[in-house]
Amino acid sequence: MDPQSRGADATAEARREALTAVYAEASVCPRCPLSETRTTVVFGAGDADADLMFIGEAPGANEDRVGLPFVGQAGRLLDRLLDEIGLQRSQVFIANVLKCRPPQNRDPQPHEIEACSDYLVRQVELIRPRVICSLGNFSTKLLRADPTGITRLHGKPEIRAIGARAFRLYPIYHPAAALYTPSMLEILRVDFERLPGLLALDPPPPPAPARTQRAAVEEPEPERVTEPNADAVTAQTPVGSNGAESASQLGLF
Ligand code: URA
Repeated sequence: MDPQSRGADATAEARREALTAVYAEASVCPRCPLSETRTTVVFGAGDADADLMFIGEAPGANEDRVGLPFVGQAGRLLDRLLDEIGLQRSQVFIANVLKCRPPQNRDPQPHEIEACSDYLVRQVELIRPRVICSLGNFSTKLLRADPTGITRLHGKPEIRAIGARAFRLYPIYHPAAALYTPSMLEILRVDFERLPGLLALDPPPPPAPARTQRAAVEEPEPERVTEPNADAVTAQTPVGSNGAESASQLGLF
């Protein structure tokens, strides 16, 4: 990635352009066998300069067909929950751990997550969200680099970092888990209600150069700055330049 678009003073426009280039690369990605079964790469969509980013698991059948994240039932619930806190999809950025649909919607496999995580890292570095909401187990475990499950972690914000970007990680249940379980929906609603307060906090300080560092604690929960996936933050050889030609194809606003 062009170091200038990653730099602290990179303009939103430069970062948006760099994100479009990452999309072009991802849209022809051959890195794992899902490239042979997918219909479309679902890169992510929303505001390329969003303060709030949601990270789900992987595209399902609808997303694979349309090329946009969360366009099925779980997506409609996500839209409703956003609306209840006064936000619209166009104001956030929504992405997934995997950019391609696993056949039969099976769980993402470790080698797929590893192959794909560099795209997510670059998305976070370029979008620079203040708050990342991990939806369910897969994105929570990846961003925390820890196997602790969502049942223990949901609703508990903590400061994390990817590369030079610190953010508040806020794990919540995946909306699909709440579709048919009213009690789960209530928990998700309560967790969602905390989002405006988190977005109103000052941005977390950038991580110290050391790989693992304690950070100032603002929330009652322990907030640690760690660097999951540091190995994934490496320059990648572009795999092609066709794919996305314009930001509008990205669903960016
Ligand atoms: N579930 C996800 O995790 N992501 C999507 O894009 C759709 C459903």
